Amino acid sequence: MRAAYHETQGGLDVLRVGELPDPEPGPHDVLIQVNATSMDRVDVYWREGSHGMRLRWPQHVGGRDIAGVVEAVGAEVMSVAVGDRVVASGERTHASMALAPAELTFPLPDGISFEAGGATPTAGRSAHQALIEKAQIQPGETVLVMAAGSGVGSFGIQIARAMDCRVIATAGSARKRARAVELGAEQAIDHYSDDIVAEVREATDGRGVDVVLDHVGTPVFAAAIRSLAPEGRFVTCGVTAGHMGELHLGQLFVKGITLMGVGRPDNQRIAATMQGLLAMIARGQVTPQIAAVYGLDGIAEAHRLMESSDFFGKIVLVP
Ligand SMILES: NC(=O)c1ccc[n+]([C@@H]2O[C@H](COP(=O)([O-])OP(=O)(O)OC[C@H]3O[C@@H](n4cnc5c(N)ncnc54)[C@H](OP(=O)(O)O)[C@@H]3O)[C@@H](O)[C@H]2O)c1
Repeated sequence: MRAAYHETQGGLDVLRVGELPDPEPGPHDVLIQVNATSMDRVDVYWREGSHGMRLRWPQHVGGRDIAGVVEAVGAEVMSVAVGDRVVASGERTHASMALAPAELTFPLPDGISFEAGGATPTAGRSAHQALIEKAQIQPGETVLVMAAGSGVGSFGIQIARAMDCRVIATAGSARKRARAVELGAEQAIDHYSDDIVAEVREATDGRGVDVVLDHVGTPVFAAAIRSLAPEGRFVTCGVTAGHMGELHLGQLFVKGITLMGVGRPDNQRIAATMQGLLAMIARGQVTPQIAAVYGLDGIAEAHRLMESSDFFGKIVLVP
């Protein structure tokens, strides 16, 4: 197979594109010809060796998302067949072929492009799991989506809107804030220069939001907690800009706040989340936001764009 990989950690210059052996499906695996996959922020962490990431293979191939056509199935796989158009959560997906467990391989909804499918699983399911499974958002509630231009945030806005929630977003540029409003946020706050807490209070008649969806970490943590209404829920699925936060325990107990992380769900929970998310996509309630599309030869440019954060939604690769 053709793959984008790196054998060491470092700058963009460690990235290579070349031939690697095809993966062999185990009895419960599906081998998929990858028509589209995408970048996640963790691919940058893995390449640069930040956030505690160590190489997992001698030739580290990034990516988890797959949209493509089933090439072969393991002996025990009954749920999909060769030739099916699928979307899946696998590993080493920045390649022309990749494996996914059969239980995380789903039919690509009709009318959904490979690019949209390949942009969906990791970011989309994290946002869905955080908001639906963990925070259990309810119609009429107000949700604050931090860094709404990210992969996770761009799904988060739409999932909250699909649940008839009010959405307030934050983003670091005017262009991203405009896109957040187009996607359904009532208002978008500049998380670098605005007073997030004051803006949220003004937008909610002083009450605060019911739920905060965060993945930024340290720089927004204090504001996130102070933006919550009584009995509010804070849910996190990432620590892009720092993992430490100071918590006022008095606010926690007096306001009755709940803090949650998405954790590491097993495949059964991931499958349930993916099915819920794909149903929203099939109904047209959620549309994966594709910021840019690169071939495998554009892998360094894709990493560079992700590092810059100058994009809204997902960076897609078409191997
Ligand atoms: N738990 C899981 O399974 C899971 C799954 C997916 C993602 N994640 C994690 O979730 C995070 C987001 O992933 P992603 O792929 O969606 O990332 P992404 O698309 O690269 O977006 C990262 C965002 O972080 C924001 N940001 C960076 N520094 C900031 C700061 N100082 N203050 C405020 N915002 C800041 C940027 O917003 P602006 O440019 O607007 O400032 C950018 O939109 C990552 O940490 C990732 O590892 C976890």
